Amino acid sequence: MNIYFDNAATTPLRTEVISSISEVMQECFGNPSSTHAFGRTAKTHIETARKEIAKQINAAPQEIIFTSGGTESDNMILHCAVKDLGVKRIISSPIEHHAVLHAMEALEQLFGISTAYVKTDDKGVVDLGDLEALLKSSKEKTLVSLMHVNNEIGNVLDLEVVGELCHQYGSYFHTDAVQGIGHFTFDMETLPVDFLSAAAHKFHGPKGIGFSFVRKNSGLQSFIHGGAQERGLRAGTESVHNIVGMNKALKLAYENLEVERQKVLDVKNHFIDQITTVFPEVQFNGLCDDPNKSTYTLVNVALPIPKEKALMLDFHLDLNGIACSKGSACQSGSQSGSHVLNTIRSQKSEDWPSLRFSFSILNSKNEVDRLIQVLKDF
Ligand SMILES: Cc1ncc(COP(=O)(O)O)c(C=O)c1O
Repeated sequence: MNIYFDNAATTPLRTEVISSISEVMQECFGNPSSTHAFGRTAKTHIETARKEIAKQINAAPQEIIFTSGGTESDNMILHCAVKDLGVKRIISSPIEHHAVLHAMEALEQLFGISTAYVKTDDKGVVDLGDLEALLKSSKEKTLVSLMHVNNEIGNVLDLEVVGELCHQYGSYFHTDAVQGIGHFTFDMETLPVDFLSAAAHKFHGPKGIGFSFVRKNSGLQSFIHGGAQERGLRAGTESVHNIVGMNKALKLAYENLEVERQKVLDVKNHFIDQITTVFPEVQFNGLCDDPNKSTYTLVNVALPIPKEKALMLDFHLDLNGIACSKGSACQSGSQSGSHVLNTIRSQKSEDWPSLRFSFSILNSKNEVDRLIQVLKDF
C-alpha cells in the first residue's frame, strides 16, 4: 500500500477538478484575447473564474491577478513593490519560503534595497516586538512580507494583528498564503493585507497556476511585459484550463471546509497520539502540536533515532511506500538541510532526524497506523 503524507509539497487533484480541466481542454481552445467567438468563450471562462475566486475570499474580481503559482506571485509582489511603489526596505523572517527569501536577495542586488529579518523564537514564533522595533527604526518606505502558514512547521500567523501593526507604521503588508488559501477562510475586504500569494496545487488544484491578490488602486504595474492580459500586470496567454481547474478546486475546498477540516484534523491528532505513545521523547518542531496556533494539515517531528541510523530513515519509509518530506520539496536537493529547522531547532532535535508529514482528505487513520508500524520496525 502506498501512502502519501506529503500534501504540503503538493496535493492530488480532485476528480471533479480533472473533469472540468479536461472539458475546457477539449472544448475551449480559443485564445482569450481573440475577439471572435472562440476567444470570447475562453475569456468568459477566465472572467467567471476570477469573479468566483474573488467571492470565495471576499475580494473584488479586479483584485485577483492570475499567475503561474506561489513563486511567481511572491516575486511579482516583492519586485513590483520596489519598482512601482518606491519601497526601499523589505522586512521578512528567516523562516519564509525561498520564493520570498531569494527574491529579497535578488532585489537587494538589482535595486540596492535594504532587507531586515524579524527575530523568531525556538518555536518559530515571529517576535512582534522586534517587528515593531524594525518598523520604527527607519522612515524608508517598507514592505513587510510574512507568511500565513509556515510550510515546514505549520505555524499560523495572525494576519489581523501583523497587518494592523504594519499599517500603523505606514508599511505595506504582503502575506504568502500558499499553505493557507483553501484551508482557512479569508475576508480580504476587512483583513489589513495589501497583497497575498496563492497556488492551486496546495488545495487539490492543478500545478502551474495561482493568483496574487493585489488591493485595488495599489499602483502596481506590469511584472511580466508583453500583451495586455491581466489588466497589463501579467502578460502572456492565460492558462484557461488551469484557471478553471483552480476555481473548481477552491470552490470545492470552501464548500466542504468544515467537514474536511475535521477529517484531516482527526488524522493529525491520531498521528500525534500514536507517535507520542511509541516515541515518548518525540519533539514537535514549531507549534505543530498546538491546535490553536498551527494548521491542521501538517506535523513536523524530530524522532529519537541515532544519527548513524537516521541516514537510512528516508530510504526505509520510501521502501515501505510512505511518502513524506524532510523540509520543503523545493530544497530536497540541497545539502544544508532545512533553513527553517536550522533557524529554530534545539541541540537535541538537531541530533535527531526531523520529518514532515502533511495530510489531506484522502488520508486515513489506518494509514497513520501503518506509518507508526513502519517507524517501529526501523
Ligand atoms: C509557503 C509557500 N510559498 C511558496 C511556494 C511556492 O509555490 P509554487 O510551487 O506554486 O511556486 C510554496 C510551495 O511549496 C510554499 O509552500
